[in-house]
Amino acid sequence: MDHFNLIDGELHCENVSLRTIADAVGTPVYVYSRATLERHADAFKAGVAQAGDVHVAFAIKANPNLAVLNVLAKRGLGADVVSEGEMVRALAAGVPPEEIVFSGVGKSKREMVAALDAGIGQFNIESEIEGAELSAIAVARGQKAVCTLRINPDVDARTHAKISTGKSENKFGVPISDALAIYGRLAALPGLKLRGVALHIGSQLLTLDPLEAAFDKVGVLVQELRAAGHEVTHVDLGGGLGVKYKAADDPRMPEEYGAMVARITGNWGVTLMFEPGRVIAANAGVLVTEVIRVKPGVENPFVIVDAAMNDLARPALYDAWHDFEAVQPSGERMVANVVGPVCETGDTFAMARDIDVVAAGDLAIFRSAGAYGATMASFYNSRAMVPEVMVDGDQWAIVADRIPAAATVAAERVPDFLND
Ligand code: LLP
Repeated sequence: MDHFNLIDGELHCENVSLRTIADAVGTPVYVYSRATLERHADAFKAGVAQAGDVHVAFAIKANPNLAVLNVLAKRGLGADVVSEGEMVRALAAGVPPEEIVFSGVGKSKREMVAALDAGIGQFNIESEIEGAELSAIAVARGQKAVCTLRINPDVDARTHAKISTGKSENKFGVPISDALAIYGRLAALPGLKLRGVALHIGSQLLTLDPLEAAFDKVGVLVQELRAAGHEVTHVDLGGGLGVKYKAADDPRMPEEYGAMVARITGNWGVTLMFEPGRVIAANAGVLVTEVIRVKPGVENPFVIVDAAMNDLARPALYDAWHDFEAVQPSGERMVANVVGPVCETGDTFAMARDIDVVAAGDLAIFRSAGAYGATMASFYNSRAMVPEVMVDGDQWAIVADRIPAAATVAAERVPDFLND
């Protein structure tokens, strides 16, 4: 459930009309609902609490905006980070260092040092060589890095290939068949305090079966590790829970997910950790756009909007669906292609879609844009960086400025040696 609803025939975020925001800030603009973020954080926490002692870290790659992180930190969520930049944001938003988990397949030495400096809670190591590097860095500093070993369980998450991470051919983690041996060697290193295992098999999972299959394999591994004399106190089950992007999507609710986790992990005797991103943020945000013009097409008209693939990349990258709705729907419908102004055919949000009738100057939204939306935006086609707004009841504020294309010109220079 979210807080983007029609009030007196006009779409609002909580109690604020999206027209008010668009008039003041311009379009395109992302708009987030605090109440929705909090609702999703609470629902996720309550769902997984069925499994006992849990720790929930928001995967901030989904939405690293400081105001969003601030809301979620106050709700008791830690942060799953994959770069020094994300770690800096988590700390700036008030996430306590010990609540930060550092994931990612390519942590640089510089990032390891920065994370040890900050005193983060846990590293999820993705390879034996990474663990050895981290140990050496920690030893040189007289520290011990608290870690888990990320395993690749080789299960098919049955999601889009580009966001599937748990098959043996994917770059993530160590093969589960090698995990026992690698764990043994890493546990012996002086700079590591290895306390368990981690996994994350993919994103936008609409069924629980692949997760359950993966967790079953991890349960066996935990027993094997203990039988080999290792202490296993933490298992990080990653993120991945899918959300409803279109009417036909039927995602599993956090409550159902938590019940499955409780059933599978009931006797593991560990602290469970989670890294949800999309399920917290996706439906807590929309991208507001204005229709530039409607151009006739051979089969369907093209609704050209002022948002583009540089603002919301998911349709171009993953053929992702985002519902398109008029801010002031008339009740009339039309079939159209919804496209952005960028000079690529991939800059298409919807083909032959049944949508609200819209005309030049009308405002519209793309729904479910709060996760992997603004954070994946770019300056492509020298367009501005899209701004972000947070709504809280009847209050709202700009939480990320629009960065105009002129600012990128100012950051560049033509060196003298080119002036010959
Ligand atoms: N943990 C790890 C280690 C991850 O790699 C990810 C996402 C998550 C947690 C959070 O997963 P979630 O709960 O959000 O499914 N840009 C793509 C999604 C990429 C996800 C990458 N990893 C998209 O727009 O669909």
